[in-house]
Formats: sequence, C-alpha cells, structure tokens
Amino acid sequence: MAAATRKKSKAKKKAATKKKSARKSAAKKKTTKKAVKKKVTKKKTAKKKTSKKKVAKKKTTKKKSASKSRRKSASASKAAAYSPPAKLSISFTVNGAQVETDVPAHTSLLYLLRDLGFTEVKNGCEAGDCGACTIMLDGLAVNACCMLGVQANGSELETVKGIGTVDNLHPIQEKFIELGGIQCGFCTPGMIVAAKALLDANPSPTREEIKVGISGNLCRCTGYVKIIDSIEAAAAEMATK
Ligand code: FES
Ligand code: FES
Repeated sequence: MAAATRKKSKAKKKAATKKKSARKSAAKKKTTKKAVKKKVTKKKTAKKKTSKKKVAKKKTTKKKSASKSRRKSASASKAAAYSPPAKLSISFTVNGAQVETDVPAHTSLLYLLRDLGFTEVKNGCEAGDCGACTIMLDGLAVNACCMLGVQANGSELETVKGIGTVDNLHPIQEKFIELGGIQCGFCTPGMIVAAKALLDANPSPTREEIKVGISGNLCRCTGYVKIIDSIEAAAAEMATK
C-alpha cells in the first residue's frame, strides 16, 4: 500500500512540474511576442521619421535651388540693363590753356587732370586728407580728388606749373628750394598751391596764419618748420616788389 501511495504522490509531483513548466514556456512565448511587436513598432517609427526627414530635405533643396535660379536670372537681367555712363562734354582752362574734353560723370577732377597729362597734380589719398592734389579753381585752393571733373566745366584752373616755370620761378618756389621746404617733393605741388592761395588772400601772414593756411596739406619729410620759413620768406620778398 505504501508503495502505491508513493507512486501516486510521485505521479502527482510530476504532473505539477509539467504544468509549471508549461505555464513558464507560455509566459516566455508571450514575452518574446511582445518584444518582437515592440521591435517592429520601433522600426516602423524610425522608418517614418527617416522618410519625413527625407521629404523635408528634398523640399528645402528644391526651395534653395529655386531662389538661386531666381537670383541668377535677376542679376542677368540687371547686367543686360547696365550701360556704361555717358560722357559729358566740358571745357575749362588749365594754366591759361583751353581744354575741351568728354568725361564720364563719375570721374574725379584729379583723375581727369592726370589723364589729360597734368601729372603735377599728385594723387596721395583720394579722400581730401593729404592735400597733395591741391589746385586753384577760380582763385580758390581745392582738393581735386574731392571734386568731379564735370564740376570744373567753365572754370579757370591753376596747377603748380602755372605758378612759375623752371626759368621763371615764383618767389614761393624759390624760397622752398633755398630754405629746404622741399625734400622728397611729393607734397610740394600741393603745398606751393596752398601757399599761393594763402598769400593771394593775405600777403603778410603771421606764422600762425601760415600754419592754418597749410593745415590741409601733409608733409612726411620736413617737419613743416622749413615750409613755414619758406612761405614767410616768400611773403617778405613779395612785399618788397
Ligand atoms: S589726394 Fe586729394 S587730398 Fe589727398
Ligand atoms: S617733402 Fe616729402 S612729403 Fe613733403
């Protein structure tokens, strides 16, 4: 009897273990199914995202290329519409000689004069700072770089060459040579024109007035003292004549 009971309990135990393992495997299967589902969903979302990104990228590229082509066509039509500025016919005198010429409206008086061969008008800064381009326009000292060529129409211009010649120097030129008012000489044409304009307006200036008179002209060599001495001496000499 005892053997039969033991057999029965063993069989019971076996059945219980089987049931347990069946439950376990069912649970396992469920979990794997869930995991697979999750994976698939993840993949799907990633795919969706990527395709969305691709569409957005395509749209931006399209937009960019459209605006590029629009810009291209706009600049092409601009270029087609551009025509070089018309030249204007003007006339004036330089150092007493009549000049008639055609000049584009945007050309500065400095460029115009130098192009016409008046290279004694120096190009220092083209900004009205150095005074190297100083000339007389109707009796007034002006910076040729700060004027348009067309503005000289009908005017009388004078450069350093009109103030005196090599054979017949003006007292200002003589004194510049005599007293060392010239060193490299780059500022000299403008400086002498400025001095002439000063002495025309004020024949016996004080040293302070000379300094003010040439304050628009820069010299990198002389330190100005010799230039002021030269102008002062020229004024004194001119007063005796
Ligand atoms: S070049 Fe005209 S002021 Fe300097
Ligand atoms: S002499 Fe040289 S810049 Fe004046």
